[in-house]
Amino acid sequence: MVAGEKGRRVIITGVPGVGKTTVVNEALQKIKQEGTSYESMNFGTFMFEVAQKEGTVADRDEMRKLDRGEQKRLQQLAAKEIAKRPGNVIIDTHASIRTPKGFLPGLPEWVLAELMPDTVVLVETDEDQILLRRLGDETRARDTEGARSISEHQQFNRSIAAAYAMVTGCTVKIITNPDFLLERAVAEMAELLR
Ligand code: AP5
Repeated sequence: MVAGEKGRRVIITGVPGVGKTTVVNEALQKIKQEGTSYESMNFGTFMFEVAQKEGTVADRDEMRKLDRGEQKRLQQLAAKEIAKRPGNVIIDTHASIRTPKGFLPGLPEWVLAELMPDTVVLVETDEDQILLRRLGDETRARDTEGARSISEHQQFNRSIAAAYAMVTGCTVKIITNPDFLLERAVAEMAELLR
């Protein structure tokens, strides 16, 4: 690829704690050994760096509680920065964010217009497994949420991913990441990225 040329843009989504970052990082290691590389960007980190500098949040889990307009402003800034990246890019983000005022689209029209993804990936697994993974992660201030609510969020993410495909013409890929079968999810992700 010529330097500066746009490569593939793959957006990875999944409810908090489903294991999307784990699956992506392992898949990237696998394909790197074969000579394929992507720059991996975490959308939430871009938003958090701005919010932290401005003093509006102390940790990344506070961002989804910010005023809706403020979350949109941070989204816009992150999308503009990420869109400048040349080459193959993976964007680790959310199809939707559960906020106190309802689901907020992670990829509204103005974000999609900047990123224009080739594929949106939904990483999913059984809601009971997600619940246990969240409970086991003491590094984050996860919202207390039952299995039914996690299931509802995963269903909403499928619906909104269909809308993203309608706007951009991207494909939507569902990758399941169940307990004890991480390797299978990693292999499927690596295949998509090759
Ligand atoms: P972000 O940082 O992306 O937070 P998150 O969703 O909580 O993501 P994590 O990376 O913590 O979870 P994960 O699913 O990647 O799980 P992990 O691999 O760690 O976003 C933070 C905030 O930014 C959001 O809340 C929002 O406010 C904001 N934001 C982001 N994008 C936005 C957007 N577009 N618009 C607006 N706001 C946005 O794994 C979890 C655990 O599971 C680990 O312990 C792991 O070891 C385990 N695990 C993984 N796979 C398996 C397996 N197969 N079997 C057993 N255990 C497994």
